[in-house]
Amino acid sequence: MIISQQEFLFSVIKKLNITKNILAAKLGVNLCTLDSWLLQEDSIGFLRMPGAIEAFISKHLLCNTGNVIKYSLRDSIAINGKNHLLSVDQFNRDSLEDFFRVTDSMKPISRRQKVSRILEGAVLGNLFFEASTRTRVSFGAAFCRLGGSVCDTTGFTFSSMAKGESIYDTSRVMGGYVDIMVVRHPEQGSVAEFSSATNIPVVNGGDGPGEHPSQALLDLYTIRTEFSRLGKSIDGSCVVMVGDLKYGRTVHSLLKLLSLYKGLKISLFSPPGLEMPDNIVNYASVNGNHIDIKSSLEEGLDGVDVVYATRVQKERFENPMDECFDKRFQIDLSKINSKCKKDTIVMHPLPRDSRPGANDLSTDLNNDIRLAIFRQADNGIPVRMAIFAILLGVDHLIDNSLKDVQWSLPAYIGPDDSPFYCL
Ligand code: NCD
Repeated sequence: MIISQQEFLFSVIKKLNITKNILAAKLGVNLCTLDSWLLQEDSIGFLRMPGAIEAFISKHLLCNTGNVIKYSLRDSIAINGKNHLLSVDQFNRDSLEDFFRVTDSMKPISRRQKVSRILEGAVLGNLFFEASTRTRVSFGAAFCRLGGSVCDTTGFTFSSMAKGESIYDTSRVMGGYVDIMVVRHPEQGSVAEFSSATNIPVVNGGDGPGEHPSQALLDLYTIRTEFSRLGKSIDGSCVVMVGDLKYGRTVHSLLKLLSLYKGLKISLFSPPGLEMPDNIVNYASVNGNHIDIKSSLEEGLDGVDVVYATRVQKERFENPMDECFDKRFQIDLSKINSKCKKDTIVMHPLPRDSRPGANDLSTDLNNDIRLAIFRQADNGIPVRMAIFAILLGVDHLIDNSLKDVQWSLPAYIGPDDSPFYCL
């Protein structure tokens, strides 16, 4: 189909999800010139765009495959023209679906059937200034599985921040050593500050009680995968979030991402003082989604499709609230059996606090196939591989890079894994 120059350029702006200013900057022209290309062909002031510019757009901003214009996912999720991943706000429904397609293409690697070297020679800086096990290791493992190498730093004590170095200096210096960084830091907004000092891609690995975009992407990918096995759709489904919704950054990012779907019924249940911030509830109350604050967990669990439990983030409390998280807030087998369906899934970002009296997600669900927490954690690998491949611009190379693995592993990773979940 032949389209006009105006239609072509507006479709580029829409597909890349950028402003006219950013497109003009990418093309190296001023806004007046772009505006004259954007006019209708018969209007006064219309100028024909040079062929070289059109070729540049097709080759570098979009990838033309036959008649289908495939835009660059990296550009569509870019923030201020840079390839960072700081917040789930960077996604819309289209880019989210494209992101999941890239994630699907990583599954043969995360299932240890194939290997790829698309990141051979690249170095990841994994900078964790706050406790982490699975986020740090899964980002590192994901990078290694694509052929890259990882340099780590953990905690403030062993970093130069303990000597008073600023975020700006640390970021600029690290950018000189590595090709992409994952940063976790206890202060909200700190990772964005980190990203402003470098053009090297920065991924937010959790900024205090702010956001945790890669976790929300893997949570949503888990819901999508589990629902496709169960023949369900995310649009119109029922989700309950329980626990510390105030300081839990995973639920902040997940609620925002869920809001890209339509007609959801989302129930929130948390101890007094640990409620979901109003700004996030307002952000997510779109697309016909209904968000309800519940006064009892049983009410929220009734007929729900997804139960998402979270740990109390005591490390972020300004004042100790020892008694706030009692049995009423605990997800266990008896509550799930009495209120939920056979195809409900139970999720948790982990770690769960298994110490006596913690009342976090109970271990009595461990043999129940509805417990999706380990499948969820495993999804961290393909999701994080997709993040790296997209931000470093190699996602289109995956399919042709796959080679068979030479080693062999047991069919099941965990002794309690469900029969449908094997390597
Ligand atoms: C979470 C985090 O760090 O925000 N964990 C994770 O990254 N999987 C949740 C938590 O610590 O409770």
